[in-house]
Amino acid sequence: MRDDTRDKVTAPMVRAAKGGPKLRMITAYDAPSARIADEAGADVILVGDSLANVVLGRETTLTVTMDDMVHHTRAVSGTRPSALVVGDMPWMSYHVSVEDAVRNAGRLVQEGGAEAVKLEGGRKRLPVIAAVLDAEIPVMGHVGLTPQSVHAMGGYRVQGKEVEAARALLADARALDAAGVFSIVLEGVPDVLAELITKEVGAPTIGIGAGPKVDGQVLVFHDLLGLGGDRVPKFVRRYADLGSMAVEAVTRFFEDVQKGEFPSEAETYHMPDEVARALLSE
Ligand code: KIV
Repeated sequence: MRDDTRDKVTAPMVRAAKGGPKLRMITAYDAPSARIADEAGADVILVGDSLANVVLGRETTLTVTMDDMVHHTRAVSGTRPSALVVGDMPWMSYHVSVEDAVRNAGRLVQEGGAEAVKLEGGRKRLPVIAAVLDAEIPVMGHVGLTPQSVHAMGGYRVQGKEVEAARALLADARALDAAGVFSIVLEGVPDVLAELITKEVGAPTIGIGAGPKVDGQVLVFHDLLGLGGDRVPKFVRRYADLGSMAVEAVTRFFEDVQKGEFPSEAETYHMPDEVARALLSE
C-alpha cells in the first residue's frame, strides 16, 4: 500500500536521479511482492518478463504474452506503490510493427496500470521507442544480455567482451539516451563497459550483472530472496533463503496434521452447547 509519507516516484524523477543516491529497482509480479518491494523503499518496481522463469516455471522468457504481462502488472499497480511501476514488453509485442508496439505499450498502461514500459534492444528499436514516447509513455531501455534474444545470442552470455562488441553496445546506449529513454538497464556486461556507458549517457543506468559503477541496481525478487531455485547467475546475491524456510514451515504443518495437533481449540469454530446438544441428539 502507498506510503503517503513518500513522494510518488515518476519517470522524470528517475531520469533526474543521475549523480544522486543509487537507484533501487527490483522485480515484482503480484500484490505481495509489490508490497514488500515498496515497503523496503524501491524507487522502481519492474514487472519483468522474468515472470516466465520465476513464476511460471518456464526455461526462457519467450512464451510470456501481453495478456500475462497485463494481468501481473495490474496486480502490482493495484497495490498503489510509491515506487514507479514499469511494465516489461514481452517478446513479439514490439517486434512486428511500430503500431503494434504502441498499442501494446498502451495496454500495459491502460489495462495494467503501468507508468512506464521497458523494452529490450539498441539502435534497431529506435523507431519503436520514438513512437511509444510519442504516445506519452515513458520508456526504459535495456541493452547488453537481452534475454529475449537468447537464440540469436546463442545462449545467456555476457555481452560486449570484445572491443567491437563493446563499442556497439556503447553506441546503442548513446542512441537510446538521445532518443529520450528515462533510464537504461545494463544486463550482463563487463564492469569497465558499464562504467563507460554510465559516464557517457545522461539517463541513469541500472545494472544487473554489470558491476558496481552504474547509477542503480536491480535484482529479480525471487533470486534475491532464495525463492528461485538453486541455479542463479553469479551476479545474484541471496539476501534470504525463504525457499528453505517455506519448505520447513509446510513440512511442520503436515506433521501437525498427521499427529492430530492441527487445528487446536483456538483454531476451531464452535457452536453454542445447546445447539450442539440438539444437533447430536437427533
Ligand atoms: O524481466 C526482468 O526481470 C528484467 C530484469 C532482469 C531487468 O528484465
